[in-house]
Amino acid sequence: MSAIAVESPDSALLFVDNGLKHRRSSTILNPRSYLMDELWRQAPVLTGSTNFEPLKDAKNIFITGGAGFIACWFVRHLVLTYPHYKIISYDKLDYCASLNNTRILDGCPNFCFEPGDITDTKEVKRMLRKHKIDTIFHFAAQSHVDLSFGNSYAFTNTNVLGTHVLLESAREHGITRFVHISTDEVYGDVPIGAADLSETSLLAPSNPYSASKAAAEMMVHAYRKCFKLPLITVRSNNVYGPHQFPEKIIPKFIMLLQRNSKLIVHGDGSPTRRYVYAGDIVDAIDTIFHKGDVGQIYNIASKDEVSNMEICHKLLNMFNLPSATAEELEQCIQHTEDRPFNDQRYATDGSKLAALGWQQKTDFDDGLRTTVDWYKRFGEVWWGDITRVLTSFPVVEGREIWTKEEHEALPGDGEAVSDEDMDEMPWTKQALDHLQHSPTTER
Ligand SMILES: NC(=O)c1ccc[n+]([C@@H]2O[C@H](COP(=O)([O-])OP(=O)(O)OC[C@H]3O[C@@H](n4cnc5c(N)ncnc54)[C@H](O)[C@@H]3O)[C@@H](O)[C@H]2O)c1
Repeated sequence: MSAIAVESPDSALLFVDNGLKHRRSSTILNPRSYLMDELWRQAPVLTGSTNFEPLKDAKNIFITGGAGFIACWFVRHLVLTYPHYKIISYDKLDYCASLNNTRILDGCPNFCFEPGDITDTKEVKRMLRKHKIDTIFHFAAQSHVDLSFGNSYAFTNTNVLGTHVLLESAREHGITRFVHISTDEVYGDVPIGAADLSETSLLAPSNPYSASKAAAEMMVHAYRKCFKLPLITVRSNNVYGPHQFPEKIIPKFIMLLQRNSKLIVHGDGSPTRRYVYAGDIVDAIDTIFHKGDVGQIYNIASKDEVSNMEICHKLLNMFNLPSATAEELEQCIQHTEDRPFNDQRYATDGSKLAALGWQQKTDFDDGLRTTVDWYKRFGEVWWGDITRVLTSFPVVEGREIWTKEEHEALPGDGEAVSDEDMDEMPWTKQALDHLQHSPTTER
């Protein structure tokens, strides 16, 4: 779509689509914007805790999605723990990313950030050549299940085509290791009482996000078989902790409570997920990198299985809000429509990874307390204005976010604003001028 959008002084937006001009309300997030220095210096530097003998055949490591949640933890961990490795973080800086996530590393001799898209074949190949890459960790993805129901092509494009581009580029370039980050959601729903699933279980994804991740895994499998590409696949349970964009349940709930707003619970809140703290998944991936076998698949499995309603209770308790009676709960929680389909639970077996020496160190209550503390201090400033992110089923296009209601009310082409209307909006002309002369504008 040939569309551009600019932020106006009063946060209304001008939207120009194929020459038609519309006014609308939304938020555009800017993942490049840096926090004020004073705030930044207060942020803790969070990494994992493992420290292995560096691998002799790994030197230049390409990490996709490095400005996003899990990868930023891994990037910080590798850069600060292993001066021997040179880390190249590659990220298109989508709505959920933030360069604040790796700002602490700016100036480190073994770190560099390269903006770019994994679906851009030429650029990916150029990066692999330029940095003489021998190792790839592929985290970049469209990762939010809720959004995949509304904009599923974006998930296929990034998660399937993007992975294919990386695999093909890695094959042409030649690498020693490629670690593909997948998810427990590829297995689909596991009924209560059923045995935990091992890495050889069937893949049965049930939403567009998990289907795109499973499809990406099929490409990984094919490249392993046909081209003997040295691939490792990692399937993790849900991950939580500081730096997670507040569209996901835990940071979203914390920020709602911080704003004295009700928690928005989809459906009855009974589905459960197993949760791994971010520091623990970093240790798990580091363990797989240094001790795992090429050609293998590893589950990262937590012991903590928690329902959405249990998360509500734990967080309400941490914010000293009573939730013992139905009346008390009603004061704090608003139940909304559920996802079109919601898996009841996922359950994976982690004994293969345990055999490499990894075990979960942070239990859910401890990890949740650390997470709450971080969001209380930094949640409002880290990504910019997250008001619309905190609503029920917001709509995201590029870096622009609407509430569901605002998006439904967007004018159709027939209601486009005329040129005369434009003349009455001096800020609009200013904003367009600014847009045309801004090097960071997306077109
Ligand atoms: N968060 C979880 O609970 C969880 C659990 C299991 C697996 N995973 C997997 O882990 C990986 C990371 O998840 P996350 O939660 O950190 O995601 P995230 O949404 O926080 O970060 C994704 C990053 O990828 C970048 N990105 C998106 N499209 C891109 C593109 N086309 N080119 C380059 N960069 C692009 C984004 O800018 C962002 O920085 C994903 O592959 C996800 O499927 C996540």
